[in-house]
Amino acid sequence: AMELSLRPRYLAEYIGQSKAKENLKIYIDAAKMRKEALDHVLLYGPPGLGKTTLSNIIANELGVNLRTTSGPAIERPGDLAALLTNLQEGDVLFIDEIHRLHRTVEEVLYPAMEDFALDIMIGKGPSARSVRLDLPPFTLIGATTRAGLLSAPLRDRFGVISRLEFYTVDELSYIVSRSAEIFDIAIIGEASDEIAMRSRGTPRIANRLLKRVRDYAQVRGDGIITHEIAKAALELQQVDPMGLDSIDHKMLLAMMTTFAGRPVGLDTIAASIGEESQTIEDVYEPYLMQIGFLQRTPRGRIATDQAYRHLGMPIPER
Ligand code: ADE
Repeated sequence: AMELSLRPRYLAEYIGQSKAKENLKIYIDAAKMRKEALDHVLLYGPPGLGKTTLSNIIANELGVNLRTTSGPAIERPGDLAALLTNLQEGDVLFIDEIHRLHRTVEEVLYPAMEDFALDIMIGKGPSARSVRLDLPPFTLIGATTRAGLLSAPLRDRFGVISRLEFYTVDELSYIVSRSAEIFDIAIIGEASDEIAMRSRGTPRIANRLLKRVRDYAQVRGDGIITHEIAKAALELQQVDPMGLDSIDHKMLLAMMTTFAGRPVGLDTIAASIGEESQTIEDVYEPYLMQIGFLQRTPRGRIATDQAYRHLGMPIPER
């Protein structure tokens, strides 16, 4: 319940993502004025930026029910059919990790999205026939870390495609202050800023760090999160001043030492530090690229001079 209450419920309470927010507000208001279902929405971007929160908000703003599921949870076409036939007019169906839908399930989704219809096969062999079942108009909200992971036919069926961006330090600081207020945590402004600076542009990380810093303040201090307390707690958690953690460090150091600064492939980096390629690509790389520490070249990834300076490593001759 605490987790849920941290999440804003309406667009007006939602901080950041001003472009996505402004556009969505228009489409939501227009759909309400026409008393129609909102067109299908694809939300994409790195994890923790508020895709699930936004889908909850969209349903709230529309005043409709929200059904939540995820790509891998829908195993068979029948699972999706069951979800779709239980929707009421105008409802929102949220599918997280929509890029992980099975092909067979995805094919059921096409006529559902396009014509609000379900094509059901009856019988087997030569006597098999297809029956079309009408569905109530609904809104599908799909979420994925990268729009490029979606098949083209699925991507093309979304009327609204919205990319979520990393948050600014000011936005994150505001989110930390808001969360502290909800949790009844005493925190100094500089401490909120410090947590914000180390949260990799990501509210989920900011809220997680706030909780850990609160623990530290309780045990090592008097419960108040001062700037000193925040810095000491974050240091102890191995979150550096740019928000990089031990995995970022391992990855960058491998590129600088093991691979001697030469361009290196994603899978090679992943194998050398024992992480999944997909995790590195979806979670670690986007932020390192955003802050200019990593570049993708046609021949592979390289750490930038900025990254060398940050880690105190000698910059190689190139
Ligand atoms: N908590 C997490 N993300 C948030 C956001 N974007 N706005 C307000 N509170 C949040």
